[in-house]
Amino acid sequence: MHNKVTVVGGGNVGASLAMNLAMKEIADVVLVDIVEGVPIGKGLDMLQTGPIEGYDCHVTGANDYAPTANSDVVVITAGLARKPGMSRDDLLLANYEVIKNVTEQAVKHSPNAILVLVTNPLDAMCWVAHQVSKFPRHRVVGMAGVLDSARFRTFIAAELNVSVENVTAVVLGGHGDTMVPVVRLSSVSGIPLSELIEKSKLDAIVDRTRNGGAEIVKHLKSGSAYYAPAAAAVEMVESILKDKKKVLPCAAYLEGEYGIRGLFVGVPVKLGAKGIEKIYEIHLHDDEKAMLQKSAAAVQELIDVLKKKM
Ligand SMILES: NC(=O)c1ccc[n+]([C@@H]2O[C@H](COP(=O)([O-])OP(=O)(O)OC[C@H]3O[C@@H](n4cnc5c(N)ncnc54)[C@H](O)[C@@H]3O)[C@@H](O)[C@H]2O)c1
Repeated sequence: MHNKVTVVGGGNVGASLAMNLAMKEIADVVLVDIVEGVPIGKGLDMLQTGPIEGYDCHVTGANDYAPTANSDVVVITAGLARKPGMSRDDLLLANYEVIKNVTEQAVKHSPNAILVLVTNPLDAMCWVAHQVSKFPRHRVVGMAGVLDSARFRTFIAAELNVSVENVTAVVLGGHGDTMVPVVRLSSVSGIPLSELIEKSKLDAIVDRTRNGGAEIVKHLKSGSAYYAPAAAAVEMVESILKDKKKVLPCAAYLEGEYGIRGLFVGVPVKLGAKGIEKIYEIHLHDDEKAMLQKSAAAVQELIDVLKKKM
């Protein structure tokens, strides 16, 4: 028996994600989108890639939720993406309607699934899915930190001309310009970054990481990044379905951890078969704490707007 994953939103991120899940033989995939026919066509195309790439996962597409029944994981990528000049927060109200609608339908058919959110503004959309699904907090998780830390790792590896595999990076906070790359806890094979890169260069890398999404939007002009975002969500889904218990930076609903309550914010978590199996509350220095509080306040502002709508 293969695991079953529903991917809602068959656009750039969703389609890349579905393809990646099949290529890695992680699960059978149902791709759902509102655009008539498109997910069905993309699903068939991916299914027919199987004999060439050598995977037996079943990929199908649908415009309704009946084929998604009893999915183990539902990944939500549906909604608008940024265009040049837009912040992630500009998507708030339009994507709120999408996430509310998608979550209602998805959880009706898969009441025991783990929800993985990708749609922006990420932390606020996690909050909507959590409210609407009424799932316990360990079954709603957001993808942002894996991507943000991958960007940080990429830039550090390039600066030092070392393998990206040797670079570990910690990024906390909301998925926005206020995200907190924690330089002190990031390293190259255990060697602290401060011993390898001078401060002004490190500051520039942190800045580029914070604006890593916007840098790509500026080049693409008509949308936002999708290869790395899809790969990041796949790493999370794989850790859940294979019960790998990877420790990854993810958006989790905090109930007092880090002094934050009632919000989704990026923190290190253990991801396994039960979803979020542990939230790591690490000791932060005062300046890091202040940056995390500022980031959480930015997420709170969006939630306050949504609360007035609900
Ligand atoms: N969390 C992250 O780090 C991260 C990274 C990249 C993108 N994103 C976000 O992911 C989302 C998707 O990005 P994309 O590049 O794939 O956009 P896209 O426009 O290529 O695809 C979005 C898809 O959602 C579909 N859709 C819209 N409303 C729907 C509904 N009600 N039900 C089902 N499908 C619906 C659209 O038809 C479209 O195919 C955006 O909000 C983007 O900002 C987040």
